[in-house]
Amino acid sequence: MLWAGVPTEASLPALQIEIYYSSPTGRPLPHLAVGRRARNGRARMKTLLIVVHSLTGGARQMAEAACLGASAEPSVQPRLVSAQDARAADVLAADGYVFATPENLAAMAGRMKDFFDRAYYPVLDRINGRPYASLICAGSDGENAARQIARIAIGWRLRVVAAPLIVCTKAQTPEAILAAKTIGSADLDLCRDLGAALAAGLAAGIF
Ligand SMILES: Cc1cc2nc3c(=O)[nH]c(=O)nc-3n(C[C@H](O)[C@H](O)[C@H](O)COP(=O)(O)O)c2cc1C
Repeated sequence: MLWAGVPTEASLPALQIEIYYSSPTGRPLPHLAVGRRARNGRARMKTLLIVVHSLTGGARQMAEAACLGASAEPSVQPRLVSAQDARAADVLAADGYVFATPENLAAMAGRMKDFFDRAYYPVLDRINGRPYASLICAGSDGENAARQIARIAIGWRLRVVAAPLIVCTKAQTPEAILAAKTIGSADLDLCRDLGAALAAGLAAGIF
């Protein structure tokens, strides 16, 4: 379910629509901008960054489903980037985020944490109010990974737009845990719907 909620001060930058008009010198006055709109008057393309790490394929399938859902929105470009490759510049360039990770040892996967460690301070206070959601692939729990991401997102002053989507693969034995995962179609549908809803909200300027 989406949490559109009442816009807060923190969410305002993502909701703004830039209106440029000419000053006496003919130059635009960006400080009067009250929204995000390209100078040619057309709404600009938005980007949804999906950062993913996956050891045995579960979180990747979830992220790909979210990406597929988001791709149905013509004015939103979903970008699926592995946590290993994702950089602060990718975060700054995006309008919204999906973070997809397994829960390993009661925490988000180390590679996902490494992404946050590298990107955290370079983007701090520069992405306030942008929307995000998290996808967690877990054997039997997933709550701690979700909580960790939520805490980081609070630090970044992101706006959570959906409850963490946790899929449990029920892997308990070492063999099952290390086996390649196949996420069921009902769970993939949820991930796809979440990606579609995030993209629709970005396109409509709700988030
Ligand atoms: C080293 C390791 C630690 C794990 N620890 C947990 C855990 O604390 N809680 C849990 O629910 N699942 C745990 N799991 C199970 C994984 O979350 C599960 O296998 C999930 O499918 C992994 O996602 P992936 O397929 O995207 O790699 C662990 C798996 C590994 C390999």
